[in-house]
Amino acid sequence: MNSLLDQLITWRRHLHQNPELSFQEYETQAYLWQQLERLDGIYLRKAANTGIIADLITDTAGPWIALRADMDALPMEETPERPYRSLYNGRMHACGHDAHMAILLGAIYLLYQQRAHWKGGIRCIFQPGEEKAPGGASLLLQEGILQEVPIQGIWGLHVTPQLPVGQIGLRSGAFMAASDEFSLILQGRGGHAAYPHLSRDLIAIGASLIMELQMVVSRAADPRSPTVLSFGQFQAGTAANIFPTQAHLRGTLRTFDEKWRQDARALIQRIVSHTATAWEIEAELTFLPGYPVLQNDPTLTALTRRWVVELLGEASTLEMPLWLGSEDFAFYSHVVPACFMRLGTGGEHPHTRLPVHTPAFDIDERGLEIGARLFAHIALRALAHFQAS
Ligand code: NI
Repeated sequence: MNSLLDQLITWRRHLHQNPELSFQEYETQAYLWQQLERLDGIYLRKAANTGIIADLITDTAGPWIALRADMDALPMEETPERPYRSLYNGRMHACGHDAHMAILLGAIYLLYQQRAHWKGGIRCIFQPGEEKAPGGASLLLQEGILQEVPIQGIWGLHVTPQLPVGQIGLRSGAFMAASDEFSLILQGRGGHAAYPHLSRDLIAIGASLIMELQMVVSRAADPRSPTVLSFGQFQAGTAANIFPTQAHLRGTLRTFDEKWRQDARALIQRIVSHTATAWEIEAELTFLPGYPVLQNDPTLTALTRRWVVELLGEASTLEMPLWLGSEDFAFYSHVVPACFMRLGTGGEHPHTRLPVHTPAFDIDERGLEIGARLFAHIALRALAHFQAS
């Protein structure tokens, strides 16, 4: 039991010390490849440039399932001194993707050892670029990785400092938000701020648009389906007494329903266009589509909950609230039945309870073994389930 945890910690710490940014995971890929090619009979190939597809197959006739881990780190500095601190300035595994990779490696080793006891195919996906649009998941789907074999279910997990080690968070249906970024450039006649009637005040128009667009949330969104519309940037002007000729606003839209996501974008566009027409200014609104809503398949999630309880006990699972963050695993959930889980990694050390994307973020490494055993257990149960059905 301890040897598995030791191995997981070794993998995780190596990956943690050598973080690579989105779509640049070359060393990470090479390291994973080394660990995987030791397993005789595993089918390895590169995908989406820096990713790896690792197939464990005991029966080509299936059934097929998939497990996924993301690979990328973040452009930020790891501040605390620790034996496994990042060796690179300005790069850090602050979202736990190092742990996700170690967990999937561990699960692969467990499933490999038990290969006489299961039938089918397990597609293990090491996916680059979760943190950066368009998301590695969308690239892998373009390469057909979930379509070329008949995958009946895909599972992924994410370390979660808000949950103590040993807890697994699940939610059926919509789970994590769709996210869209937008940019709004307003252009108009500038002028002396003492004479508003001779120019167009883009700051006042921009400010009023920010307020009016909140009506999209309060008056057009179904209150039973949360919507967030936030502006993170408003840049305009150079002096107290000059009307600028340009204002730049940027924001994010979070939704939990794909139809509403489209409608909200259209409504925002109409409000912006009509305001621009009314004030005789130019307004250019651009949406940078992010990730869709992550949909946990209800049947698969119910089965998963049962299997989690079987492995970790009744008290281990809890129902998660909607999560306003987004995850590119969501792309998979629109192609095959999917179940995304939150893995508790909060422990004694205060750093393990800090939010992801913070400079001292860490995990309680006992969660690695739980994650690996969980993935392996789910894979075995799922294959047996699909075999029988
Ligand atoms: Ni993450």
